[in-house]
Amino acid sequence: MEVSIDLTHVMGKFIKDQEYQMIKSQVEDASDMLRSRTGPGSEFLGWLDLPCDYDTEELEKIKEVSEKIRRQSDVLIVIGIGGSYLGAKAGIDFLDNTPLQSGSNQETEVLFAGTQLSSKHLQNILDYIEDKNYSLNVITKSGTTIEPSIAYHILKSKLIEKYGEEEAAQRIIVTTDAESGSLRQEANEKSYDSFVIPDNIGGRFSVLTAVGLLPLAVAGYDIEMIIKGASVYAYNSRAQGVKENPSLKYAMSRNILYRKGYHVEVLANFDPRLKSFAEWWKQLYGESEGKDGKGIFPASVNYTTDLHSLGQYVQDGKRFLFETMIQIKNPGLDLEISESDQPDEGLEYLEGKSLNEINDKAMMGTLYAHVDGGVPVIVIQIDEVSEYVLGQLFFFFELAVGVSGYINAVNPFDQPGVEAYKENMYALLEKPGYEEKTRELKEKN
Ligand code: PA5
Repeated sequence: MEVSIDLTHVMGKFIKDQEYQMIKSQVEDASDMLRSRTGPGSEFLGWLDLPCDYDTEELEKIKEVSEKIRRQSDVLIVIGIGGSYLGAKAGIDFLDNTPLQSGSNQETEVLFAGTQLSSKHLQNILDYIEDKNYSLNVITKSGTTIEPSIAYHILKSKLIEKYGEEEAAQRIIVTTDAESGSLRQEANEKSYDSFVIPDNIGGRFSVLTAVGLLPLAVAGYDIEMIIKGASVYAYNSRAQGVKENPSLKYAMSRNILYRKGYHVEVLANFDPRLKSFAEWWKQLYGESEGKDGKGIFPASVNYTTDLHSLGQYVQDGKRFLFETMIQIKNPGLDLEISESDQPDEGLEYLEGKSLNEINDKAMMGTLYAHVDGGVPVIVIQIDEVSEYVLGQLFFFFELAVGVSGYINAVNPFDQPGVEAYKENMYALLEKPGYEEKTRELKEKN
């Protein structure tokens, strides 16, 4: 039940054996640097041993608090942005087997707020929860991010209006830094249930902490199996070299392709359950690798839907992209095409075939076409849709991006670029402390 990687469609045609031989030692050095904690950003490697050394008390507390939320609420609103929500959303949408709104088949539905600055989006949530019982889980490592701060401010005042101060305090769960920030202070003062985002785990690597696990537990998923999947993958990968380790193979092949001018990686899925997972992946890879004027640009497509839109570009447009397809070997439920009572429907050749079989042929057809069109295709295979596999996938990609960043000589664990827009926005909003920048920006007008 391991995540595996198939390089058949890149080796030979797009990656020569000598290229593989030449980069091998760099991949191993990068992996050693990560494991020995001697590379840049090594103070943020808490995620590396997290699944294997999971704090069982923390896990129990997450389960307890999730049970409390499930007992008292129809809806949990997770308030967070970037690494503070993408992992939970990825997991819930991956495991959710309804084609409807995310989390809508759960006893306690999980919604996400503070992910942008849209009034309409927030008002829709306020309208939706009006007659429902709800709780809030505000997640922010820094405690200062503007989008979740505003959403929390508005949702908390509605919560207090509905339940009063005392009961509202039973319905607010804070996930933030152990000590710093006003949110930690508030959680302590009001005795909210709270969780710590460890100092040594950056936001985008935090999915296997309470950041991701609490919402997933509230949605009714088995978080112990998620940790088990991640820990088995993490444990096995410790002893593996480039030849056996899927994360290292992935890091290696995408870096060879990058050096040959393939600057965009398109993560492709053939199942909408992986759509939000791709959003998590984009943040993880974009923020970890895109710096110092370097890095693969991470994009995503949802097939077969996007074969009728972006498929044209992938097949025939400018040749600077490669694809990474995630293949689910046993997707579960499988509908069959029944015999038609309308002879001219044109579907006779499909009768007796199942949707999974047809989807599989769509994937292989796409893969062959894209490779023929000059697009290298890496295939990542997973056995099924389950908590265990989800844990494996999370860790597979985290490990690969750490190694990949080091191969490309960047610090994969910082994100200096995200500060630039914030500084301008605060200055334009005339936040105290930004006066000089405010003057500078006003002169631009
Ligand atoms: O990966 C990161 O560190 C960021 O993307 C953060 O997750 C994001 O900016 C949200 O930050 P915070 O959790 O401090 O509100």
